[in-house]
Parts: sequence; C-alpha cells; structure tokens
Amino acid sequence: MITTVTLNVAIDKSYVIDELKPGQVMRVQQCTKTPGGKGLNVARVIKLCGEEVLATGFVGGHAGAYIEDLLREQQIRFDFSHTAQETRTCINILDSNWNSTEFLEPGEPVTEAELQDFLGKFAAVIEKSDVITISGSAPKGVGTDIYAKLVSIVKEKGKKVILDTSGGLLKEGIKACPTIIKPNREEVEALLNISVDDFVALVDGAKRLQQKGIEMVVVSLGKEGALLVTEDAVYHGKPPKLNPVNTVGSGDSMVAAFAVGLARNLPVEDMLRYAISVSAANTLTMTTGSFKEEDRQNLYHQVTINRL
Ligand SMILES: Nc1ncnc2c1ncn2[C@@H]1O[C@H](COP(=O)(O)OP(=O)(O)OP(=O)(O)O)[C@@H](O)[C@H]1O
Ligand SMILES: [Mg+2]
Repeated sequence: MITTVTLNVAIDKSYVIDELKPGQVMRVQQCTKTPGGKGLNVARVIKLCGEEVLATGFVGGHAGAYIEDLLREQQIRFDFSHTAQETRTCINILDSNWNSTEFLEPGEPVTEAELQDFLGKFAAVIEKSDVITISGSAPKGVGTDIYAKLVSIVKEKGKKVILDTSGGLLKEGIKACPTIIKPNREEVEALLNISVDDFVALVDGAKRLQQKGIEMVVVSLGKEGALLVTEDAVYHGKPPKLNPVNTVGSGDSMVAAFAVGLARNLPVEDMLRYAISVSAANTLTMTTGSFKEEDRQNLYHQVTINRL
C-alpha cells in the first residue's frame, strides 16, 4: 500500500466561464468540486494505476467532512487528523481560450495540539504502507521542518518516501534525505540558489542534490519530460509531442507513478518510462490528476529514454 500525505487539503472548485473580466459579474457555466491539495491528486492517480492507497493529513470542519465524503465516493481510503478550523477552498477558472486562473487560499493555521496529534499517530498510519508520498504546501503552525520530521519517521521504519514541495519546506525536508525528490526547474534553482540556463547546468544541479544523500533526484521538465539522477547514472526521459488539454496535476501524476514504481520494485529506467507515460497521459484529460489507461499504454512505447 502507498500512503499520501496532504497537510494543506482543499476543496478544489473548477469554474468554466467564457471570458474572465475583472470587475464584472461572472456567470459560471460549469462548476466541479474535487478533493484537492497536491497529495490528494497523487492519491487519485495511484488508485488509477491500480495500487492500494491511503490518504492522510489534516481536514477540518464541514469542508473537511465534505472532502471525506468525496473520497468515500471515489473509494479512496483515508485516515486524517481533524482540526477545528475549516478546510480551505481553491478555485481554478478555465476560460474558452484554455487560460487557467487559480485562486489558492492559504489555509487556516493548525494548533500545536493538532500537530502533536498528527505526529503522534503518523507512524501507526503508515504501518501498512511500503511507500509514502509527501506533497505540496503546509498550513501555518507546523514549522518549516515538518517534512524533515515526517521523512525521518518514514525512514526509521525502513520505508521509502517521495517529497514534492518547494521553498523552505523542500530546503529543510531534503536534510532528512527522502528516497526521491521531484523538483521542477524553478524548484532546483531556488533550492541551490543558482540560475539554470542550460541542460548541462541542470544536470549538474541535480547531481549536486543527489550527492546530498537522496537516492533519486527527478527533475521534471514539462513537455521535455524529466531528468533522473541516481548515484550511478543520469537518464533523460522524453514523451512524444502532444496536444495537452489540461497540464494541471502533471507533477502530481508523476509523483504518483514513481510511488507505484517504487512499490512494484521496478528497475530505474522502467520507473522513469512509466512515470512519463502516466504524467503525459494526464495532460490529455480535462480532469486534474487523472488519465486513461489506453492513452498511457500508447504513450509508454513512445517515451524515449537516453542514458547520458
Ligand atoms: N505539455 C506536456 N506534454 C507532455 N508531457 C507533459 C507536458 N507537461 C507535463 N508533462 C509530463 O508531466 C511531467 C511533470 O510536469 P511538470 O514538469 O510540468 O511538473 P510540475 O512543474 O511539478 O507541475 P505541477 O504544477 O503539477 O506541480 C513531465 O515530466 C512530463 O512527463
Ligand atoms: Mg510540481
């Protein structure tokens, strides 16, 4: 089983409108609500990949109960810590020109008692899982070292952990040496305080991160695929040219696929090919963090893997 950690859960609302005009009344043509926060996208994709998944993190209030209802409908198991404050809502506005405008609420702070409750039961929650993913932002009140703490707990139990976050949370989190990190180019730049102008600099940056004691550094490059650096080798995996309909959640799909690859003990090259096929297939569906197995299989054979 795989556990996904989402500390900053959200109700993701997606509004379809014709044209976004600031300062005017906007009539929404279509509104969909999904359980959101990057870790819940990861959970959905893991389930689609055919693996057992358990979602954990914080949910609160009526909005939190609603998230649990939505997960129940999708048959995704969960074991959340409950907070007094309401879970946040995030809004993504899609217009007829395929522009996406996102409004991300920061989320309410978590109290010290709520944090201790979560940390206290975390080891028991992940007991039945071999792989744990940790994704996205964290609510105020948990401290920037929260992911380093969680990574350490996972590793003490001899399990594998993927960390996908940014800023101070990533900087602190890598100190505990997660099994995999999946930064994009901007996250690598911020992490190493460098500007990456070409591919050589990117490979060099990824190698420097790997040498900090991270088994696999995966740098995702959008339509250019991803770079994977291990102690022994550097690979570049690339999807074929596609006409994406919605690229939101591609990073989360990639994290989900790597978690599945780790759980299945796939060889490194197969894991990369699988992760690129899943994340690229995600860009071909409107729903965030979703793919059609038929698309994935078609893409799998078209992914090129180069050992550099
Ligand atoms: N336009 C695209 N065409 C094909 N594949 C894509 C495209 N965009 C993303 N992907 C696939 O998804 C993976 C992750 O995408 P990306 O690098 O954009 O992640 P990210 O910046 O972390 O995104 P997110 O906003 O989801 O966190 C890529 O490595 C690639 O395999
Ligand atoms: Mg990302």
